[in-house]
Amino acid sequence: MRMEDFLYKKFIRKLLFMFDPEDVHNFVLEIFRYSNYIPFFEKIFGCRIKKPVNFLGMKFINPIGLAAGFDKNGEVFDLIEKLGFGFCEIGSVSLKPQKGNPTPRFFRIVEENALINHIGLENKGAYYVAKNIEKRKHKVKFPLGINIVKNNDVDFEQAADNICECFKVLKDLGDFFVFNISCPNVEKTNENIEVYVERIIEKIANLTVDKNFFIKISPDLEYEEIYKLIKICNIYKFGIVATNTTLRRNILKSRNFDNVKGGLSGLPLSEISLDVIRKIREIDREIPIISCGGIFNKDDIENRKKLGIEIFEIYTSFIYEGPGIINKLCLNL
Ligand SMILES: Cc1cc2nc3c(=O)[nH]c(=O)nc-3n(C[C@H](O)[C@H](O)[C@H](O)COP(=O)(O)O)c2cc1C
Repeated sequence: MRMEDFLYKKFIRKLLFMFDPEDVHNFVLEIFRYSNYIPFFEKIFGCRIKKPVNFLGMKFINPIGLAAGFDKNGEVFDLIEKLGFGFCEIGSVSLKPQKGNPTPRFFRIVEENALINHIGLENKGAYYVAKNIEKRKHKVKFPLGINIVKNNDVDFEQAADNICECFKVLKDLGDFFVFNISCPNVEKTNENIEVYVERIIEKIANLTVDKNFFIKISPDLEYEEIYKLIKICNIYKFGIVATNTTLRRNILKSRNFDNVKGGLSGLPLSEISLDVIRKIREIDREIPIISCGGIFNKDDIENRKKLGIEIFEIYTSFIYEGPGIINKLCLNL
């Protein structure tokens, strides 16, 4: 076992998992903010493997990125680079700050390497996040993704305007932008998803900003819905982040979480998320895809590479395996 894995799994994880997941998350963010001053931090935990990838004109030192939801407010992405991630997607960010759902809203399912979160898109808003990015962007070389979402109190009719305003605040600060149309923790639209998404994409495309754009989709979509979204993305040259968390519970061995609200992430999501990519590839062999959802090991990477995936994002495996997961995944590229 490598030293960083040993330290993480035998000591750090054991300690952190004794406490509430959201408290731990906030504590870790706090540590990250100050860890520039902890000697050897980078030496112990930093990934040393370089696997350069060029994707849509963006240069990645390696293709393993940190998914949205960890650095929601752009406070620690410089440290994320030091850990060895090839990129980071910050957010989801909304135009105005918002609180999200009442706590407790974040749960571990340790036996199944999974998490359930019902955080509901808490963030400090686009202007605050923009300031944070401006403070740190010069410190990083890796591509920075910004994930944008509508405010929870904005109805679906007004969503495109709200998202567009948010994008305008952040447009010069990211290398790529992801529009999150798939959070399972907020109220749903009654209209067809493709109508809702086309309104957003069209508005963003009309701004003619020369960046890479993606929509982030749910693993719970029907084939028909995926088909329609891909067709729209193709018209406007948007890529796909596949996928967000799932509302399904039948993929868990335990029935204890059937009534726990929220999006499920981690190992049980892996096959479902991969299946969405298979469907996308059946519809379109070329559309750019960032794979996210249950990526833990060599097989997960291999299976996605066979479908032409070059760029990967992780969240839950980072929590369970620690920073050593980046090395482990990079070794298999
Ligand atoms: C605690 C938590 C918060 C998240 N917050 C966001 C978010 O704000 N926006 C978003 O697009 N995805 C969010 N996600 C989803 C992740 O970005 C990712 O799509 C999902 O967890 C599947 O990947 P994983 O199995 O590697 O965790 C969140 C996930 C977790 C576990």
